[in-house]
Amino acid sequence: MKGKHIKIFDTTLRDGEQSPGFSMNLREKIEMGKQLERMGVDIIEAGFAISSPGDFLSVKTLAETLKECVVASLARATKQDIDRAWEAVKGAEAPRIHLFLATSPLHMQYKLKMTEEQVLAQAIEMTRYARQLCPDVEFSAEDATRSDRVFLAKVIEGVISAGAGTVNLPDTVGYSTPSESYSFFKEMHEKAPSLNHVTASCHCLNELGLATANSLECVRGGATQIECTVNGIGERAGNAAMEELIMALHVRKDVFGAETKLNTTEIMRSSNLLSRITGMKVQANKAIVGQNAFAHESGIHQHGVLANAETYEIMTPESVGLTKNNLVLGKHSGKHAFQERLKTLGYDLSDDELAVAFEKFKLLADKKKQVYDMDIEAIIAKESVQVPRTFKLERFVINCGTSISATAAVSLSKGAKLTERMAMGSGPLSAAFNTINKIIGRTLVLEDFKINAVTEGEDAQGDALVHIRTEENVTYTGRGLSTDVVEASVMAYINAVNKMFYAERE
Ligand code: KIV
Repeated sequence: MKGKHIKIFDTTLRDGEQSPGFSMNLREKIEMGKQLERMGVDIIEAGFAISSPGDFLSVKTLAETLKECVVASLARATKQDIDRAWEAVKGAEAPRIHLFLATSPLHMQYKLKMTEEQVLAQAIEMTRYARQLCPDVEFSAEDATRSDRVFLAKVIEGVISAGAGTVNLPDTVGYSTPSESYSFFKEMHEKAPSLNHVTASCHCLNELGLATANSLECVRGGATQIECTVNGIGERAGNAAMEELIMALHVRKDVFGAETKLNTTEIMRSSNLLSRITGMKVQANKAIVGQNAFAHESGIHQHGVLANAETYEIMTPESVGLTKNNLVLGKHSGKHAFQERLKTLGYDLSDDELAVAFEKFKLLADKKKQVYDMDIEAIIAKESVQVPRTFKLERFVINCGTSISATAAVSLSKGAKLTERMAMGSGPLSAAFNTINKIIGRTLVLEDFKINAVTEGEDAQGDALVHIRTEENVTYTGRGLSTDVVEASVMAYINAVNKMFYAERE
């Protein structure tokens, strides 16, 4: 049975990135964008071009890099915003301008200070303006679900006649319930019949934990595009989670009669990449991508699954890209075998990237008896989001114990210049981090620190994550990977420092 096609509009890099703790630098956005493209999303919202020079550059770069999907920039319904959005996306194979204007009484009265007539006129005029620049225009009626339905219908008809090919009706504050979402989309299709001839989009926020359920009900009510983010990241409680939506549509096609063109086996990689980039792991019991989503702990469940997986599994782990932790290669494996393994894992690296990754693999294989797919993925993920290294770790020594204060000596090089300093701390890591602060001449605050084992076993690599806060209250995330957890932590701190210098230079 072929279901109706639902377009997936990913806004991880715009709505998702907008939330505290999730900011990404240009390289990270490119890496995430490429992964979303590999997964097969229809539209990537790359950012809000006018919001900052950095956002403009990311949208422009992504527009010029991604070839398989539509690349959109958000814009308020003003000429200045629309011009900037167009400037950023016009180099794309398939550019889109996504403009928005609020239509609810609350937003119009208190935020916009505009009447219904003014909002309607501006929505139409700006859609027409955007359409003169770009053949693909989306209009979002912000806070649509709390808008007057008769007025909203006039806006929908107006922007469609002005050239909008997609009309988005967001539940901006996550206020709707599933049954309301269904009847809302049904009603708007009846009140504004032109909605049947364009793409009708939903964009549900998660304040009440209903974003996924609401989006699915919007689809039953007539939506043909869903706006969502990987891992459900986004403002406040987040957006509808892409992995949940596509698996719900996939597994319950009998209910929704709809399908997407996404490759579901790329779900885990997308989720992991985002967690690695932002340093924000999903909770263990998170649907689809949580560590426990396919784990069966109780004896009864294990027995059932062994007898027939369908007893307790409604989808296979493989269908979301969760592969067995295969033993791959050892220290005698050659570059060719390594490259073949990367291809099987879905990575297509340039010659330079391959050379760097192979060198890292060899170093790891020297330290670790068995190298698994997850080790390789961790190496690739780390290298792919590496920024130019202002400071490089040369060596360190840390002295610590129960009856002495921790002291660290660290040597960092910056180009040809080597600097060595010593400092104390309340523990080995704080001593090392204080020493690095001394060398770079900054007073950075450690906001958060985590370390996870990439695989099982005593010789597992430690994957360290640090969040640092600058004197100007900007936060940066850094990652370090090593079989020595202290080294991984020091490397993570230096990675965050290098990201800070990179961002400050850019
Ligand atoms: O939540 C919202 O209404 C939005 C729109 C701008 C699409 O993010």
